Amino acid sequence: MNANERKFYELTVAERVERVRAEAGLDGHDTAALLDPAPLSHAEADRLIENVVGLLSLPLGIARNFTINGEEVQVPLAIEEASVVAAASHGAKLLRAGGGIEAVASDPVMVGQVQVLEVDDFEAAARELAACRDEILRTANAGHERLQAAGGGARGFAVRLLDPTPAGPMLLLELEVDVRDAMGANAVNGMCEAIAPLVAERTGGRVGLRILTNLCDRRVVWARGRVPAEALGGADAVRAIFEASAFAEADPHRATTHNKGIMNGIDALLLATGQDFRAAEAGAHAYAARDGRYTALATWRPDERGDLLGRIELPLALGTVGGGTEIHRTARVCRKIVGAQGPGSARRLAGIAAALGLAQNLAAIRALAQEGIQRGHMKLHRRAREHGEHEALAVTEKADKGAGP
Ligand code: MEV
Repeated sequence: MNANERKFYELTVAERVERVRAEAGLDGHDTAALLDPAPLSHAEADRLIENVVGLLSLPLGIARNFTINGEEVQVPLAIEEASVVAAASHGAKLLRAGGGIEAVASDPVMVGQVQVLEVDDFEAAARELAACRDEILRTANAGHERLQAAGGGARGFAVRLLDPTPAGPMLLLELEVDVRDAMGANAVNGMCEAIAPLVAERTGGRVGLRILTNLCDRRVVWARGRVPAEALGGADAVRAIFEASAFAEADPHRATTHNKGIMNGIDALLLATGQDFRAAEAGAHAYAARDGRYTALATWRPDERGDLLGRIELPLALGTVGGGTEIHRTARVCRKIVGAQGPGSARRLAGIAAALGLAQNLAAIRALAQEGIQRGHMKLHRRAREHGEHEALAVTEKADKGAGP
């Protein structure tokens, strides 16, 4: 059988790279980066962080079967945990049976916080800041002409009083910045530092911290999808997944694990595409507790036809320009594989991440609710082989038999 007739999991690594090249429109440099055993040199690493003594590699796999907003997407995942790639591919296949996943991301608005202490009269300080709004925004935007030309930039701020705190009352100026395709930390932190002297002068206070918040609840992504009951094996399976969702929605201990499964996929995509996954983790879990009780980021309900409807919502600050995005050439290739290039690409990447999180969660709770995770892993592996999803679980099978990976 030639490579075109074989399933993705049946191919050699080199043949898979060739398949991805053909499907994602990669060039020779891109495939060379994927096949290079050391795509990051010691010298490059030494420029990235301090005290370098080596490099740590991770497997990079492709989750298949994703239809997102009507488009086929191959999803690169950098992760060492067996079954995550197979599970994502399996969840995506179930959601494809219901027409695929719809995903949408909000405007990329980040918020930077300027902490002001020793303000005598909060009301008067807030009035002063409102009166010099234009000057504050002009100062914030100075030096960010390219961002403004792209339609972004500082576009407003809110003022609030934080009282009480262990160190006494504080005034906060929260600067809203549309960061377009950047993750935004550099731009927002720079803007907060730039406006700090003006804020101190107008409030009569003393400025403390000037930093973005990773709880980027103005930069949110939503995804939803439907799985026909027959694709899951019937009404009992729909009910079992609904009950698993309800458990996570009601109980923070279960919600933490439910959300960990979601982040298995999202973190792996973020690592593959050169994102700050720590920021995403911090934001996602804080968002999960936004109503005062930690709950599930993804939820499942039966619909009136008896099919299963899933939705996910989380904040995600992703960047496809600036910061460290250009440093790692494999990450550049991964962004190309998912089509995250050019204007709007950070929002596109966020939509793919949310769709992935939904598929990952579906596969996990389906396995948990039906056969249990240990047997589920093995069954998923067999199914993955039969349906050509992925062979990653071969590693688990061997490890379970004591053979090691
Ligand atoms: C394991 O890495 C992730 C799961 O525990 C997620 C879940 O329980 O939903 C299987």
